Amino acid sequence: MALIALGVTGGIGAYKAVEVCRGLQKRGHDVVAVMTRAATRFVGPVTFEAITRRPVITSQWKPGANADIEHIAIADEIGLLLVAPCTANVIGKFANGIADDFLTSLYLATKAPTLIAPAMNTNMLSHEAVQRNLQALAARGVRFVDPGEGYLACGWIGKGRLAEPDEIVAAADRMLARRDSLLRGRRVVVTAGPTYEDIDPVRYVGNRSSGRMGFALAAAAEARGAKVTLVAGPTDVEPPATDALIRVRSAAEMHAAVMQVSEQADLVIMAAAVADYAPAQTAQEKIAKSDGPMTLTLQRTPDILADLGRAAARRPSAPILVGFAAETIDLLANAREKRVRKNVDLIVANDVSVPGAGFDATTNAVTIIGADGEQTLSLQSKARIAEAILDRVEQVIRVRHATTAAR
Ligand code: PMT
Repeated sequence: MALIALGVTGGIGAYKAVEVCRGLQKRGHDVVAVMTRAATRFVGPVTFEAITRRPVITSQWKPGANADIEHIAIADEIGLLLVAPCTANVIGKFANGIADDFLTSLYLATKAPTLIAPAMNTNMLSHEAVQRNLQALAARGVRFVDPGEGYLACGWIGKGRLAEPDEIVAAADRMLARRDSLLRGRRVVVTAGPTYEDIDPVRYVGNRSSGRMGFALAAAAEARGAKVTLVAGPTDVEPPATDALIRVRSAAEMHAAVMQVSEQADLVIMAAAVADYAPAQTAQEKIAKSDGPMTLTLQRTPDILADLGRAAARRPSAPILVGFAAETIDLLANAREKRVRKNVDLIVANDVSVPGAGFDATTNAVTIIGADGEQTLSLQSKARIAEAILDRVEQVIRVRHATTAAR
């Protein structure tokens, strides 16, 4: 059970925040309501005061509040900052570090996880500025309860309506449960993105990986309290904030970085699309074209996951290993074979021919394969897929603990 700061901002959905507050209390949480000035025009603070049995914070200039430096005190005490509804204005302030009222100052001051339930007009939600702000917050580990589609207060029909209170309460509960995650304090290495194998100073052999799947895993592990080292290949997508970020270009560089950081790791997740072949030689100067065809000799790159699997076989305290298998045919058979051959705990079978799944998509559909069973996940956000993979990793940790205890 936790103390939750419920931020309420100035949207018509503010009345639903009363239900959210009740739902949180029914699950045993204590709630302190923080209202922006605009929110108080939609619902009276007295309503939240009566329900929470606590003073409602509506201003940082209230006499007494500054003597206690209230936003700092509450920032330390809360287990979660939940903002429902959250307007485009407050999303923009959070994303850009503007702290001009109590709620926006609290966001900067707290180390507690933040969950946001956006609510606004459809066009506002899809506006590039709002999308960029949402992405910036997501990259920092902020979580969202997606707005629903339907009739909006402005008379439009579309996406932007505040999610249902039950959904928001369940998401808050899930986020709080992560505080007790078995990954808390563990050292996790995640690889993401493609590798580029240089042919000459201007050309390379690469692939279409955006890094999103690995980034979602790194953000999810970080949110569970892990110390994440992210090893990322070249990509334009912004990586999430992690304990450490190592940028690499080629498979050889990724191999060197991963082998070094995994020595101290408890878990290694290889979501990167590592090149299997690289030019046998990189030309020092740009290769001049000629009229005839050109032959490029490629040689095998080191298989990082297989090397980790071999090292694990020799070390009883080896990290848990999770690999991916990107396939276009015989998905499950190939993935099962890779799991055994590379000696890894879990392999995530990824049919990259499915529209919306795999390379350079925001969604994915996978089957998680372990020694004790398989779990198929239909097309959904990479963030959700990442959560499911980490849930499965926690299961592996539990089994390892039980096995060690039984010895
Ligand atoms: O980055 P995104 O755009 O979000 O796309 C996500 C993804 C499709 C890249 C990701 O979901 C994925 O499937 N990653 C693995 C891609 C891949 O290289 O699959 P593979 O079947 O070729 O390799 C099997 C495993 O061995 C992978 O974990 C891979 O990281 C690892 N490997 C491969 C080659 C190599 N030389 N060293 C390795 O460690």
